[in-house]
Amino acid sequence: MLNRSLLSRSGSFRPEKLGQEALALIGNLCFTIFVLVVLIFTLIAATYQPEDPLFHQSTKITNFLTSTSNATFNSDDTVVKTGEDFVASNQTVFDTFINITDVPAVTVEELPICQGDVDKPIDCTDRDVFNLLMKTAIEHFKDIHFYRFGKPVRGSNGSTCDMAWRFRPNKGKIAAFYKDYRRFLISKSGNCNYTVLGIGDYHSGMNARKRKKNQKPGFEKLPKGQKLAEDPAALPLVGEVVNDTLPVVESESSFSHGKYLIYSGGGDRCKSMNHYLWSFLCALGEAQYLNRTLVMDLTICLNSMHTSSHQDEEGKDFRFYFDFEHLKESASVLDQGQFWSDWEKWQIKDRLPLFLVDDFKVTPMNLAQVRDTLIMRKFGSVEPDNYWYRVCEGETESVIQRPWHLIWKSRRLLDIVSGIASRLNWDFDSVHVVRGEKAKNKELWPNLGTDTSPEALVSSLQDKIEAGRNVYIATNEPDTSFFNPLKDKYSTHFLDEYKDLWDENSEWYAETTKLNNGVPVECDGYMRASVDTEVFLRGKKQIETFNDLTSDCKDGINTCRAST
Ligand SMILES: *[C@@H]1O[C@H](CO)[C@@H](O)[C@H](O)[C@H]1NC(C)=O
Ligand SMILES: *[C@@H]1O[C@H](CO)[C@@H](O)[C@H](O)[C@H]1NC(C)=O
Ligand SMILES: *[C@@H]1O[C@H](CO)[C@@H](O)[C@H](O)[C@H]1NC(C)=O
Ligand SMILES: *[C@@H]1O[C@H](CO)[C@@H](O)[C@H](O)[C@H]1NC(C)=O
Ligand SMILES: *[C@@H]1O[C@H](CO)[C@@H](O)[C@H](O)[C@H]1NC(C)=O
Ligand SMILES: *[C@@H]1O[C@H](CO)[C@@H](O)[C@H](O)[C@H]1NC(C)=O
Ligand SMILES: *[C@@H]1O[C@H](CO)[C@@H](O)[C@H](O)[C@H]1NC(C)=O
Repeated sequence: MLNRSLLSRSGSFRPEKLGQEALALIGNLCFTIFVLVVLIFTLIAATYQPEDPLFHQSTKITNFLTSTSNATFNSDDTVVKTGEDFVASNQTVFDTFINITDVPAVTVEELPICQGDVDKPIDCTDRDVFNLLMKTAIEHFKDIHFYRFGKPVRGSNGSTCDMAWRFRPNKGKIAAFYKDYRRFLISKSGNCNYTVLGIGDYHSGMNARKRKKNQKPGFEKLPKGQKLAEDPAALPLVGEVVNDTLPVVESESSFSHGKYLIYSGGGDRCKSMNHYLWSFLCALGEAQYLNRTLVMDLTICLNSMHTSSHQDEEGKDFRFYFDFEHLKESASVLDQGQFWSDWEKWQIKDRLPLFLVDDFKVTPMNLAQVRDTLIMRKFGSVEPDNYWYRVCEGETESVIQRPWHLIWKSRRLLDIVSGIASRLNWDFDSVHVVRGEKAKNKELWPNLGTDTSPEALVSSLQDKIEAGRNVYIATNEPDTSFFNPLKDKYSTHFLDEYKDLWDENSEWYAETTKLNNGVPVECDGYMRASVDTEVFLRGKKQIETFNDLTSDCKDGINTCRAST
C-alpha cells in the first residue's frame, strides 16, 4: 500500500527546473563530516576471502551486502574493492590452459623448397609460424598460463608478426583474464626453418590487437563440450578493446514503454568514492528490485583527498574509474542527459507519467505497485537525511541487495595494472606500506610509524621475502627514496616507475582523451591508488601493513576485529 501522505505527484515536470533545483541543493550543502569509509571498509573487509592479505576477515560477501548500517563514514583514501575482486575462481575454467604439448610440432621441410623464398616477407598466416610463435611464447613466459592464441598477422615489416593471446598468471588469485599482443621478430633460413629472434614489450603487437567480429579464435584448448567464458558479465577481460559508449533508446515506442528510476539531488556529491558507490549501488539495487532502468548521472565529483589541486573537482566521468561496458551489459541503465532529451521529445506527445518521491522513508517496497513511466526520488538539502543510501536502510536492508558484482574497476586502469605486472613478468612479491597521516598519529596508531620505517621493514621482511626478489611496494609514502635501505636486498618497484603507461604517449591517455571529448584526463589520486592496490593484489606473496608489519589496528587503537 502506498503511503499517500509521503508521496506527491506531478504531471508537468520540467527537467530544466530540476537542474536549477539540483544546483540549489548542491549549493546548500554546507558541511559534511560523515563519509562512508569506516563502514564500507569494515564491511568490505568482511567480504574478503581469508587468504586475502588486505583484509583478514573471513565473513562472506553476503554479510557485507545485508549489513546494518546507520554508521557514518570516515573520510579515507583507501580504494574500495569492486565486483571483479570478488569473482570466485572457477577452477574448471582455469584448468583448461594450453600446455606446450598441445601445440602441434613445427614441421621443418627436409627438401630445400624454400630456397628461393628466403628474402620474401614472412607469411604470418603460415601454420608453422603460428605453432612456432605459440611454442616460443609458452616457453618464454613461464609465469602465465595461456588460454587462447589469436592467429598471427603481419607486423611492422616483413620480418615481424604480431600475435595476441588470452592469459592469466598461473598463481593468480584474482579471477580475470588478460589480453596481450606482442611483436615477434623472426628469421627464416633456407629450409623454411623459422627462428624467433626477439619478442617485443607488453602490447607491442598492435596489429593483432583487434579481433574482427565473428573471426574464429586461432587456437584454444577446451575440454569437450565447453566454451571458454565469452560472456563479458562472467569475467573481466583486461586488455580487450573497451566499448563504453552511452546506451541509446532506439525508438519512441521502446522509450515510452520503458520504466525508469532516477535519483535527484542529495548530499552525496563530492564525498569519498566509497560513499559514492555505497549510494549509487543503493539506487541501482532499488532499480533492479523495481524492474526499472536506472537513469544515472555519469559525471562524478572527485573528492579533494584524491585531487592534485586539493579541491573537490567536478567533471570526472564514471568511465574513468569503473567499467561502464560491464555495467550497461549486465544491468539496465541510461545516461541522464540522453534520457532527458528523449523525455523532452516524447513526453509532451505521450504524456508520460512521473511519480515523485521526496522522502527516503518511502521504501522501494512501497513503490512496487507504481506504474508511472518514471519514478523520481528527490533528496533535500539536510545532511545526512539527504544521502541516497538512506533509502536502503532499515526494513529495506533485508530486501535490497547492493549489486556489487555490477561494479568493476575501469578496464583501462586494469590494463595499466596488467602492464606493470607484465613488466615484472608476473613474478614479484608485494608489500603494502601505509604511512601518511596514520603514521603521524601516535594516539591512534602508536607503532605504525616505527614499524614501517625502512630499518623495521628490512628486518620484518627478511623471513617473509627471499633476498633478490622483485618487490612491488604499494604505498602512500610520497618520497620513495625513503625505502632505499631495502634496495640492498631486493629489487624494489614503485608505481611512478611505470608513468609511461599513463603519460602522453600511452594507450590509456589516448583512450581517456577520446572518451573525454578530446580533453586530456589527469591520472588522479584515486586512479593511482586503484592501480597501486591492484598491482599489490597480483603479487605472489603479499605482505600487508596491518597484521603483517605492525600490530596496530587498521582503523586505530582498539579497533582490531577478531580475525580467523
Ligand atoms: C538507524 O537510524 C534510525 C533513525 O535514523 C534508528 O531508528 C535505527 O535504530 C538506527 N539503526 C541502527 C542499526 O543503528
Ligand atoms: C565452472 O565452469 C564449468 C564450465 O564452464 C561449469 O560446468 C561449472 O558448473 C562451473 N562451476 C561453478 C562452481 O560455477
Ligand atoms: C603439460 O603436459 C605434460 C604431459 O601431458 C605434463 O607432464 C606437464 O606437467 C604439463 N604441463 C603443465 C604446466 O601442466
Ligand atoms: C623490422 O622491424 C623490426 C622491429 O620492429 C626491426 O628490428 C627489423 O630490423 C626490421 N626489419 C627490416 C627488414 O626492416
Ligand atoms: C632451425 O634453426 C635453429 C636455430 O637457428 C636450429 O637450432 C635448428 O637446428 C634448425 N632446425 C633445422 C631442422 O634445420
Ligand atoms: C559499442 O556498443 C554499442 C552498443 O552498446 C554499439 O552500438 C556500437 O556500435 C559499438 N561501437 C563499437 C565501436 O564497436
Ligand atoms: C520484477 O520482475 C520479476 C520477474 O519478472 C518479478 O518476479 C517481480 O515481482 C518484479 N518486481 C516488481 C517490483 O515488479
